[in-house]
Amino acid sequence: MLLPQGLICAAFRRSIMASRHCIFAITFLSCFMQVPVEASSWWSLAMNPVQIPEVYIIGAQPLCSQLAGLSQGQKKLCQLYQDHMQYIGEGAKTGIKECQYQFRHRRWNCSTVDNTSVFGRVMQIGSRETAFTYSISAAGVVNAVSRACREGELSTCGCSRAARPKDLPRDWLWGGCGDNLDYGFRFAKEFVDAREREKIYQKGSYESARTSMNLHNNEAGRRTVYDLAHVSCKCHGVSGSCSLKTCWLQLADFRKVGDALKEKYDSAASMKLNTRGKLVQVNNRFNPPTNYDLVYVDQSPDYCVRNESTGSLGTQGRLCNKTSEGMDGCELMCCGRGYDQFKAQVVERCHCKFHWCCYVKCKRCTKIVDQFVCK
Ligand SMILES: *[C@@H]1O[C@H](CO)[C@@H](O)[C@H](O)[C@H]1NC(C)=O
Ligand SMILES: *[C@@H]1O[C@H](CO)[C@@H](O)[C@H](O)[C@H]1NC(C)=O
Ligand SMILES: *[C@@H]1O[C@H](CO)[C@@H](O)[C@H](O)[C@H]1NC(C)=O
Ligand SMILES: *[C@@H]1O[C@H](CO)[C@@H](O)[C@H](O)[C@H]1NC(C)=O
Repeated sequence: MLLPQGLICAAFRRSIMASRHCIFAITFLSCFMQVPVEASSWWSLAMNPVQIPEVYIIGAQPLCSQLAGLSQGQKKLCQLYQDHMQYIGEGAKTGIKECQYQFRHRRWNCSTVDNTSVFGRVMQIGSRETAFTYSISAAGVVNAVSRACREGELSTCGCSRAARPKDLPRDWLWGGCGDNLDYGFRFAKEFVDAREREKIYQKGSYESARTSMNLHNNEAGRRTVYDLAHVSCKCHGVSGSCSLKTCWLQLADFRKVGDALKEKYDSAASMKLNTRGKLVQVNNRFNPPTNYDLVYVDQSPDYCVRNESTGSLGTQGRLCNKTSEGMDGCELMCCGRGYDQFKAQVVERCHCKFHWCCYVKCKRCTKIVDQFVCK
């Protein structure tokens, strides 16, 4: 799994700065930078820091054919909308980061075995986890493109043209420059779904089930972003009297999208193909999933041991919490295999002083803490 080194370090920095982990992360990263990325998914765009700026700088057609991981249809879209590519990459990256945040205390931490394609083939199987990664990446793309429109970064869209909400008080102005969710939604649908729509499979085959699953989860991700967007307003008027307000459409904080999709993950529906080649729920005592729900077709492994074919990395070497009874506790995280104890150096802020006016100045203190790592 390749991810920005800053991210890995940040994850540790909060509580524990185990130098050996960060060094591991850095070498891990640098070794991938030299490997040509043979990706099988557009997500990999997000993880190839070298290629994204190139799209922008070179701006020439051959680039789209060189970008690893694009399907034929996506390459065409890339040529037509070159200025969008950077935002697609950023959006997918935001999605992956959020995924890693949401799953930081889980056995599956949003990393995969498939080292060459980063997030590429995620996992071979159509598990709940796979469902989550599709939805959050699609959500990330809607988010990034909608915002890029508002910021005037794209030639084919601008501020949102969403209609004034009916319940907005009469004397408030509608018309600040809003995030263009309609455009972001449509473009993300076109681009992200393109590769699924191109797949050739037999009706009723496993591939066809996976394609329906992926399309469903992409849609759920996009809708979540769309739905969480809200009206935001700013006050004008004499010395903050707020007699006048200007309002616009505003994307939600992406953490909220992550939280919402995590809930959808917890309640995801297990699906199978019926005889007519349609995805249907396995257990029909439950309400059928809506367009906002996640669906999966394969059971998840327990992610305890490494298994290439399910995409499980295993939990050996993971940090765990000795006193927690949750998923991050050593018992569950290490699957009962036990753990090793280390002393690690933690750097934290301390002796903080308030200075007039107005800032806080802290010292950096180092202390030694116990750290637990799964066997
Ligand atoms: C990636 O995985 C393949 C096999 O799955 C392995 O041969 C290769 O050494 C790995 N590359 C890195 C950089 O770990
Ligand atoms: C990996 O998982 C598959 C599917 O669950 C299983 O059939 C296989 O035996 C596993 N392989 C290893 C090495 O555990
Ligand atoms: C996730 O777990 C794997 C396997 O234990 C580990 O190598 C990787 O660094 C972890 N990733 C993050 C983002 O914590
Ligand atoms: C470990 O878990 C306990 C109980 O949930 C919690 O209070 C503590 O902050 C956790 N420690 C770390 C280092 O995260």
